Amino acid sequence: MKIAFCGKGGVGKSTLASLTCYALLAKGYQVLAIDADPSPHLARLLGFREEKIVPLAEMRELLAERAQKNGPFYVLNPHVEDLPEKFMLRKGALRLMVLGAIRVAGAGCACPEQTVLRHLLTLLLLEAKEAVVLDMEAGVEHFGRGTVASVDHLLVVVQPYRGSIETAQRIGQLARQLGIEQVHFVGNALRSPEDQSFLEEALGHKLLASFFWEESLAKAERQGKPLGEIDAGAHKEVLKMLSKLEA
Ligand SMILES: Nc1ncnc2c1ncn2[C@@H]1O[C@H](COP(=O)(O)OP(=O)(O)OP(=O)(O)O)[C@@H](O)[C@H]1O
Ligand SMILES: [Mg+2]
Repeated sequence: MKIAFCGKGGVGKSTLASLTCYALLAKGYQVLAIDADPSPHLARLLGFREEKIVPLAEMRELLAERAQKNGPFYVLNPHVEDLPEKFMLRKGALRLMVLGAIRVAGAGCACPEQTVLRHLLTLLLLEAKEAVVLDMEAGVEHFGRGTVASVDHLLVVVQPYRGSIETAQRIGQLARQLGIEQVHFVGNALRSPEDQSFLEEALGHKLLASFFWEESLAKAERQGKPLGEIDAGAHKEVLKMLSKLEA
């Protein structure tokens, strides 16, 4: 199962992506988390020490090299096990890769990085109990390059305010143009059940899941605590959400 989280800046993509990783681990999955945000945060939320991690973007050279040698990685579709260890941090059944490319001012777009990620997502073969969780860059720019075209589920995180809803609707349209069949809206940081109905009415769709605003989540982020260590109702909600996706 390949799942990507997208949405407007600050709506909770990284928070929900991390919670999803923990829930998948609890369900016995091998999880590959990919932080595709040019300023990555997932490592901290998943409890990895901020060690140096070789950005996935550097796999470009490796892909080219192996292609020339007719190596197995490029020619055949790789399994998660075949991915070179140097591009990931690992903790038990959880692996983390980062796309990298913290762009310097005026350095242009991150197109090559997005291309590597798109290829990887398209080629990667997953076993039944393997999952890839992608934390995408905020906004809609990456849709122009079709990076997430091959995911099984696109989860659009949305908060109950106009700007977030408009971005979510735009993402819905772009995802359909890319041919992504499973596009779901996920409400986050809701303050009341009315927030949920407001979102469903504005979007014209039921929400796949509704996450309420929880002080423990915000506090953990401020303290730099991994979300696996905290008590939050969101853990239960994310398990429910995954059961829907599995079904
Ligand atoms: N349900 C929630 N309850 C309370 N705080 C939340 C909730 N969801 C997210 N937050 C907080 O909101 C802030 C932004 O969340 P997060 O970093 O997950 O958003 P993001 O969409 O990944 O942002 P960016 O676009 O910058 O990558 C964080 O401080 C996070 O702890
Ligand atoms: Mg984020």
